[in-house]
Amino acid sequence: MSAQTDTSKRKSVRDIAAAKGKAPVVCLTAYTAPMARLLDPHADILLVGDSLGMVIHGLNSTVGVTLDMMILHGKAVMRGSSKALVVVDLPFGSYEESHEVAWRSASRVMMETGCQAVKVESGEGIADTIAFLVDRGIPVMGHVGLRPQAMNVDGGFRAKGRTKAERDRVLREALAADRAGAFAIVVEGVAEDIAAEISSMVRAPTIGIGASAQCDGQILVTDDMLGMFDWTPKFVRRYAELGQVIDQAVCQYAEDVKARTFPAEAETYVLKRTS
Ligand code: KIV
Repeated sequence: MSAQTDTSKRKSVRDIAAAKGKAPVVCLTAYTAPMARLLDPHADILLVGDSLGMVIHGLNSTVGVTLDMMILHGKAVMRGSSKALVVVDLPFGSYEESHEVAWRSASRVMMETGCQAVKVESGEGIADTIAFLVDRGIPVMGHVGLRPQAMNVDGGFRAKGRTKAERDRVLREALAADRAGAFAIVVEGVAEDIAAEISSMVRAPTIGIGASAQCDGQILVTDDMLGMFDWTPKFVRRYAELGQVIDQAVCQYAEDVKARTFPAEAETYVLKRTS
């Protein structure tokens, strides 16, 4: 089912690529229409990240996230936004096997959600796939450094670049994604000097997460920066404490219900319906 929407008022991948060296790119994750509506006026890119597996669905990692889940949330974010470029993650298992499998997954995401680009976690072996998709009309964002979908190989979520071999590998991954035509590259969990080297080396804007201010833009998991959880990674600044706000509000509501002290509007509604 096709969901093509008018994207003429949205940021385009060309706008993002052109921002390199000019304006920092503001990116946040979004998974639902109401949150997309709140973020849209402020963000250049809304990423429907497969982190939704953990943030929304209570999974332990992104490995269990399916293409159908990504499409469902991608559609919601497209409905809730009108200005930002919307990028949808290709989940684990939906693009690694072959170019053809990647094409089927990415084209489904593009057609069914109406989003403008997809993101893949791009080890060196995925660069060919990026080129294959870009050549056929699908803009692709790369993702190097800490790659959450590889957590079972890495033995957890680990920052990258501690050894020379690891550092060289991250640099090669970024160069490969850039040469393959990625319009932007997420750089996750690397030290400041590596982020600086990658950013100066590649043509595409780098979007950092836990990778210092040396990147061309930044992304955070929105629920982390809004303080929805007790724990957040060390590099995340908590701009609000929404978890506490919700807890206080729900606590007050529970007290009202128990004390039968409903607010006046609710009483009026009951009166209107029964009169
Ligand atoms: O899945 C995700 O949300 C991501 C970002 C954190 C970069 O990949």
